[in-house]
Amino acid sequence: MLRLLAVIIVMFVSGCEMSQTQTKTKISLPEPDSEGAKMVKEFCSDCHAPPSPLVHTAKEWPNVIYRMQERRRMKAYELMGEPERIILLEYLEKFAKS
Ligand code: HEC
Repeated sequence: MLRLLAVIIVMFVSGCEMSQTQTKTKISLPEPDSEGAKMVKEFCSDCHAPPSPLVHTAKEWPNVIYRMQERRRMKAYELMGEPERIILLEYLEKFAKS
């Protein structure tokens, strides 16, 4: 009985840690209310957690976005429109790794 209780407690605690990590991923987007952050949340969270702009340099981002658009196409997801793609890219470049 005690052992079962311990297992339940461990599950509960690790569950909390997991949801904390998820929240952190969400808050790690700078200027979270900006159009750019909204675009990242909308178009970059269908397949994985939305990435931080810090994972690439401004020079690298265009290629990554191009590849992700192709991934949307492969999955038959609605493609990013040109205006959205530009807002998203400018946002990622603005806060990119230097
Ligand atoms: C249709 C699914 C899908 C969507 C939508 C998507 N991704 Fe991805 N992403 C992937 C897959 C699959 C991988 C792993 C393979 C790869 O790197 O291409 C990945 C990997 C990544 C990586 C890690 C690899 C690297 O090159 O650094 C980054 C960063 C990334 N995605 C950014 C984005 C951004 C930014 C968006 C929004 C514009 C986005 N993703 C939207 C499927 C997707």
